[in-house]
Amino acid sequence: MKPFPFILLTSLLHFLLLQFSTAADTISPSESITGTNTLVSSGTSFQLGLFSAGSLRYLGIWYKNFPDTVVWVANREKPLADSNGSLTLSKNGTLILLDNMNNTLWSSSSSRAAEDPVAQLLETGNLVVRDKAATDSEDYVWQSFDFPTDTLLPEMKLGWNFGTSLNRFLTSWKNAGDPSPGEYTYGMDRVLLPQLVISKGSKKKFRTGPWNGIRITGTPFPALSFGGVVHPYFVYNSNELYYAYGAVSNSTITRLKLTESGEIQRLLVNNGSTEWAVMYTLRNDECSNYGQCGANGFCKINKSPICDCLPGFFPTSTSEWGVLNWTRGCRRETPLNCSKGEGFLKIENVKLPDQLDFWVKNSTSTRECKAECLKNCSCVAYANSDIKNKSSLCLMWFGDLIDLREFIEEDGDQEQDIYIRVPWKTSGKNDKKIVLISVISAVCLLLFLGLALFSWCIILKRRRNKRALRDSEENLELPLFDFDTIAAATNHFSHTNKLGEGGFGSVYKAKLTQEEIIAVKRLSKDSGQGIEEFKNEVAMIANLQHWNLVKLLGCCIEGDERMLIYEYMPNKSLDCFIFDQNRKVLLNWKKRFDIIMGIARGLLYLHQDSRLRIIHRDLKSSNILLDDELNPKISDFGIARIFERNQTEAKTKRVIGTYGYMSPEYAIDGKFSVKSDVFSFGVLLLEIICGRKNRGFHHPDHEHNLLGHAWLLWNKSKCSELIDQCLEYSYVEFEVQRCIQVGLLCVQKLPVDRPAMSSVVFMLGNEGAPLPQPKEPGFFSERSSEDVDTLVDEGRSLTGSSITITTVVAR
Ligand SMILES: *[C@@H]1O[C@H](CO)[C@@H](O)[C@H](O)[C@H]1NC(C)=O
Ligand SMILES: *[C@@H]1O[C@H](CO)[C@@H](O)[C@H](O)[C@H]1NC(C)=O
Ligand SMILES: *[C@@H]1O[C@H](CO)[C@@H](O)[C@H](O)[C@H]1NC(C)=O
Ligand SMILES: *[C@@H]1O[C@H](CO)[C@@H](O)[C@H](O)[C@H]1NC(C)=O
Ligand SMILES: *[C@@H]1O[C@H](CO)[C@@H](O)[C@H](O)[C@H]1NC(C)=O
Ligand SMILES: *[C@@H]1O[C@H](CO)[C@@H](O)[C@H](O)[C@H]1NC(C)=O
Ligand SMILES: *[C@@H]1O[C@H](CO)[C@@H](O)[C@H](O)[C@H]1NC(C)=O
Ligand SMILES: *[C@@H]1O[C@H](CO)[C@@H](O)[C@H](O)[C@H]1NC(C)=O
Ligand SMILES: *[C@@H]1O[C@H](CO)[C@@H](O)[C@H](O)[C@H]1NC(C)=O
Ligand SMILES: *[C@@H]1O[C@H](CO)[C@@H](O)[C@H](O)[C@H]1NC(C)=O
Repeated sequence: MKPFPFILLTSLLHFLLLQFSTAADTISPSESITGTNTLVSSGTSFQLGLFSAGSLRYLGIWYKNFPDTVVWVANREKPLADSNGSLTLSKNGTLILLDNMNNTLWSSSSSRAAEDPVAQLLETGNLVVRDKAATDSEDYVWQSFDFPTDTLLPEMKLGWNFGTSLNRFLTSWKNAGDPSPGEYTYGMDRVLLPQLVISKGSKKKFRTGPWNGIRITGTPFPALSFGGVVHPYFVYNSNELYYAYGAVSNSTITRLKLTESGEIQRLLVNNGSTEWAVMYTLRNDECSNYGQCGANGFCKINKSPICDCLPGFFPTSTSEWGVLNWTRGCRRETPLNCSKGEGFLKIENVKLPDQLDFWVKNSTSTRECKAECLKNCSCVAYANSDIKNKSSLCLMWFGDLIDLREFIEEDGDQEQDIYIRVPWKTSGKNDKKIVLISVISAVCLLLFLGLALFSWCIILKRRRNKRALRDSEENLELPLFDFDTIAAATNHFSHTNKLGEGGFGSVYKAKLTQEEIIAVKRLSKDSGQGIEEFKNEVAMIANLQHWNLVKLLGCCIEGDERMLIYEYMPNKSLDCFIFDQNRKVLLNWKKRFDIIMGIARGLLYLHQDSRLRIIHRDLKSSNILLDDELNPKISDFGIARIFERNQTEAKTKRVIGTYGYMSPEYAIDGKFSVKSDVFSFGVLLLEIICGRKNRGFHHPDHEHNLLGHAWLLWNKSKCSELIDQCLEYSYVEFEVQRCIQVGLLCVQKLPVDRPAMSSVVFMLGNEGAPLPQPKEPGFFSERSSEDVDTLVDEGRSLTGSSITITTVVAR
């Protein structure tokens, strides 16, 4: 295939006349384009005209600088055999391509007629027919973007418009020299949870994982922006469902192509280059072939052979399996019969199976989802979508599991986990397994007995502590630690083992055994509030389970001694990193962004997705702990409050919190809500980006705090000055800009203006999502003479000695 060069065509092709030579020009009705040239319209990026493939001619659009790269073809099915033909725009706005016998080869099919139509090739490569009067409007009568061929250009939609039932999908060329429709299509599969699918005829060849409310799983989708060359986005609402992407910079030209062999390629031309380079291919390994390992098989690209049966299954045909023919997949060793002991095995980091016999339910936790699956005897697997907008979804499969693959955690994207139902006794063939199971059963039995004894002890102890712990009693399902053990493990609460000073007490490192290290929070006896907060914290955290919340392992009550036992976080808290000149370099931009996302997810869980609605009230950098991989965990629920599901705001006379993070309405009026946490989150976000504290921030030019500084820079469009200097080489400008904007949205003065955490997570996670303009932040110019960062209680100080709330809070 070679598009006709301009000069060649004048001699070969007589009848297509160039009447319009720039994209600003338009085709008007009844101006039949016939004559001496192939070029119908030309913009700075794209051209519309006739190109030639073999002896046949097609009307198409190609890049002006790459005439060989055709991105759209009109008459794929009926080429022009003859050199004579004409393109006409009819009075009602239909583009018609006629051959020299006046047979219609192609016409644009629009649902409505135009009053006074013009056709125009836009800068984006979109050929549109619109009403002449409507220059700015995107309300086109017809547009080529709605009828893609094999190429997805920036801002083109791949998917559905429910109103018009229009489904836009790519169809490959027959072969490299033949634009007529090939066998492969790539489009949006409208199942319960949408997914993108490459098909050959009616057979699936590749699929991504399902959409989980935020992104498409099972692909390197978030990473597809590849250093910010494109920003992909996904829209799903009652009107539309589509995938699209935007080009980030004008110096890079990029497109997505469905090749003749059924692969999706992202191609790009870098600034100055003259050649297309393939950036990635979507169907790039054997495991990405649809159903590579057959039913109930499990594809692991790092293993040899790559296919395995899922736990509880064995090959349907061992001889075929032996010669690496996996087409018939695997079947169960023991049929499921819903006997008591059935359980689930977890497989981590997978692309979830296809949604063939599949159902989705709302649920709040993995436990609930498991219960739901156990209810139905034919439910063979479940998964809980962990990244979500409002409520988490429980995904359940009922038939064979097809197209399940493992991912290698290379770019750190957390993929999905799936739980496969297995009979209690998984195998009759494998003696080792039986031995193992017997051992496990024995251990379980012992554990159970131990636990029973333990629970009994707890009950006894609880009775003793009944008065103090009346409210939280029924929620206390935690191991109770022995005071002497803890004292020994912390070397009698020695100073060397002290990790830090939290609200209401000190935190110690405790070594139970050589391997087992825990963190102990010993509540100060003299704080006076200890018991209330203790009850609160135990009851609350015991019910919370989230990756981004610190895990409570148990507690210890002895006399008036109260302790909380947490998992130990070797990397201490976030403030030890971002505000420390030496350690801040350890957190590059990607890591900081991950931390921001983690905190946002944890907070979203507290606000919306856990069974309770919890307001943390003391979100700050020293309450974000970091595990050994620097994953953030929100901690310290000492002053958190539980809300009723429909409650939105509460008021307190006791304002407790930390200067610099408290929202205006809380500090001044004692009003708190999810939005006061959002404010604290916004402060934290800006601190993470800037590497400096909000409180105690000084700038030679003005008297504002960090929020005020960020606001000034924002208004001068100089946000990049805010970025921590040590991020200089790692940050991605538009990502940081976006984060700063989200941060400023969170710290807006009025609670109603601040976004909910669900929107925050969405805005941070979706590069394409539109962001509102922030208004003035709250408390941006407040200054107090005291710059000690400490937890304060109204009227008195808890851990510092010099602070009283009245120095800051005007009444
Ligand atoms: C195309 O049209 C021109 C002018 O009408 C005519 O001379 C020529 O023979 C036609 N060519 C063909 C192949 O029909
Ligand atoms: C095609 O249509 C045009 C305009 O309607 C007319 O002038 C011409 O004679 C027609 N040609 C043939 C071959 O019918
Ligand atoms: C426009 O006119 C053509 C014939 O000229 C007709 O085939 C087509 O259906 C009309 N389209 C609309 C939207 O009315
Ligand atoms: C790209 O170019 C268009 C028009 O030339 C301009 O409006 C737009 O701002 C540019 N975008 C970038 C990212 O430079
Ligand atoms: C792209 O190339 C032009 C001209 O060579 C140059 O002025 C511009 O700075 C380059 N842009 C980038 C992002 O490299
Ligand atoms: C694999 O097995 C299937 C089913 O038995 C058979 O139809 C197919 O031809 C085999 N494939 C190869 C490559 O042997
Ligand atoms: C269910 O299966 C288990 C093991 O396969 C078997 O021991 C049990 O008797 C079965 N129960 C029923 C009700 O069939
Ligand atoms: C799940 O929850 C969402 C939002 O809370 C609600 O709109 C939807 O109807 C629920 N779906 C089911 C099946 O209950
Ligand atoms: C179990 O699920 C299957 C598939 O969704 C459904 O047909 C069946 O009615 C369910 N059975 C029960 C007892 O809910
Ligand atoms: C998430 O929920 C909010 C409010 O309910 C809504 O505005 C937003 O569009 C939702 N986002 C997605 C991705 O569904």
